[in-house]
Amino acid sequence: MSREFITLSHHFLEQQRNYPNATGKFTDLLLQIGVAAKRVSYQVNKAGLMDILGSLGYENVYGESVQKLDMFSHNIYFDALDHMGLLCAIASEEQEEFIPIPEKYPTGPYVFLFDPLDGSSNIDANVSIGTIFSIHRKISQVPRGAEEDCLQPGRKQVCAGYILYGSSTMLVYTAGKGVHGFTLDPGVGEFVLSHPNMQFPSPEKSKNILSINMGNYNQWDSGTQKYIDSISRFSQKPYTYRYVGSLVADFHRTLLYGGIFLYPGSHQKDAKNPYYKLRLLYEAAPLAFIAEQARGKASTGKENILNIFPDSLQYRVPLAIGTKYDVEAYEAYLASIGS
Ligand code: AHG
Ligand code: MN
Ligand code: MN
Repeated sequence: MSREFITLSHHFLEQQRNYPNATGKFTDLLLQIGVAAKRVSYQVNKAGLMDILGSLGYENVYGESVQKLDMFSHNIYFDALDHMGLLCAIASEEQEEFIPIPEKYPTGPYVFLFDPLDGSSNIDANVSIGTIFSIHRKISQVPRGAEEDCLQPGRKQVCAGYILYGSSTMLVYTAGKGVHGFTLDPGVGEFVLSHPNMQFPSPEKSKNILSINMGNYNQWDSGTQKYIDSISRFSQKPYTYRYVGSLVADFHRTLLYGGIFLYPGSHQKDAKNPYYKLRLLYEAAPLAFIAEQARGKASTGKENILNIFPDSLQYRVPLAIGTKYDVEAYEAYLASIGS
């Protein structure tokens, strides 16, 4: 069966026609992300052959060991995007502060936030990993950006996406008009539209996947413990349990197959103050924007992820993300037991 060969640039040029006043800058930005994605994908595929596996021997601001591929990916995306006059600043999970665009380059109207390599703990085992990105419009008057440009609620995103370096490499994005998925054709070297207008499956078609790190069970809030007990044992349609440990891969499967991914708070560190793992700006908010555009939802259990105003670049949240009906059932369950 032949199908139209729609490349990333072909797709963006078509999209741009819907906005007669568009300057094309946004399209340029997305095309450059595609170029960086191909470069990282190429290296990830060769990872076992080159000295690019393993850790750099120091920790990031979250106390996590920084892997060589984390910084490699950070540098590739940064170099692809810093000189084009499209951005005022870049913020990365691997850097404590946002990075203004260097003085030698012109600036532009957007800020780019990203998790360069998601699923770092899986790298050496050849398990799927990814990159997550989020784009906001600059709101400050500062040419090379200010923290306020980065600290906007997810609802204000103009674009979000991820690149999944899996059995094939995929780029999935939304600019607020549906979610589109492209697969890298390695022979041609182009991302080709393979998943137009992606949406979570309806309840009848859902494969009902439950995705959560069960090893943390004893540290979760009691509401989440009871919810997981209840859906594992009493759900009319049984849940299938799957957990990769790379958020991008777990989210991508949830989008295609249906179900819910949860990373609740844990009491591991301090009995009174729960510890949250996932980062709002680099992980939860971009995936929440994609989820909502695909008729899904993301929540802390009490609040829509897209409505949260972060007060720091490192702001972390509990996350429930997946089909709207699964996430709302989780929220309703917590509310019903006063949790
Ligand atoms: P990162 O590799 O960017 O630090 O993110 C790791 C995150 C996320 O990918 C995944 O969902 C989660 O950590 C897995 O955590 P656990 O190993 O605690 O389950
Ligand atoms: Mn991550
Ligand atoms: Mn990361």
